[in-house]
Amino acid sequence: MTVHLVGAGPGDPDLLTVRAVRLLEQADVVVFDRLVDDRILELAPPWAEMVDVGKRPGAPTDAQDRINDILVDRGRRFDCVVRLKGGDPFVFGRGGEEALELRAAGIAVAEVPGITSAIAAPAAAGIPVTMRGISSGFTVVTAHQDPNADLWLNWDALATTGTTLVILMGASRTAQISERLIAGGMAPSTPVAVVRAATTTKQHVQRSTLAGLPELTVINPSTIVVGGVAAQSVLDHELIAITGADLHREGPVR
Ligand SMILES: C[S@@+](CC[C@H](N)C(=O)[O-])C[C@H]1O[C@@H](n2cnc3c(N)ncnc32)[C@H](O)[C@@H]1O
Repeated sequence: MTVHLVGAGPGDPDLLTVRAVRLLEQADVVVFDRLVDDRILELAPPWAEMVDVGKRPGAPTDAQDRINDILVDRGRRFDCVVRLKGGDPFVFGRGGEEALELRAAGIAVAEVPGITSAIAAPAAAGIPVTMRGISSGFTVVTAHQDPNADLWLNWDALATTGTTLVILMGASRTAQISERLIAGGMAPSTPVAVVRAATTTKQHVQRSTLAGLPELTVINPSTIVVGGVAAQSVLDHELIAITGADLHREGPVR
């Protein structure tokens, strides 16, 4: 009896790990989030219980407690429970909290890493997060809290790391991100890319600068890339998107 915290990757079913596919195919229960593609859910056996726990805007504040209760309940009753999360479970996925809750309840937990959007979204747009001569590191942060109000992150320090900045959950905070990083000393002309729905047929890439970021229409789920690499386009991302769509037209990828 194990609950497997499984990363579903950024969207395209082709980007699941082999272990994720194996576990899905033998799952008794799949507890999944809002961003997980239907074609990934179709990998579960027809008899598996499918539990949608996707938190929607305005969801009750105890939503995570309820998810934990469901995981503990199913973990006690079934052999193979898959807790499926977008990207990687341990990157802004609350996988750590869920693992601790399960262990406290005496239930075995395993983790299957997934490809995080923090790397896959830039990559899908032809942006390497590190690149010789441009960036020798990358920093991944959330803008879930208002950068002007929140003291968890030191935005002045982020403005001066010299690394690529990859910002998740920043769709509604573009003005504050721009303002905070420029106030911290980052050049207004710093390249910015916004990658929406990476690796899906809805993938959309916008390029701008830090000063221009607030003018973009940024829709969830989007990953914001700030730094010299954001001006790079080393792949033909349109071609990747078309190839993915053609594959999916042939049916679920198994
Ligand atoms: C709650 S976080 C979860 C991150 C996830 N655990 C991961 O490793 O990718 C959700 C955020 O991830 C980013 N994201 C997830 N999927 C994405 C995608 N397909 N394209 C672009 N950004 C994505 C967006 O910033 C979104 O607001």
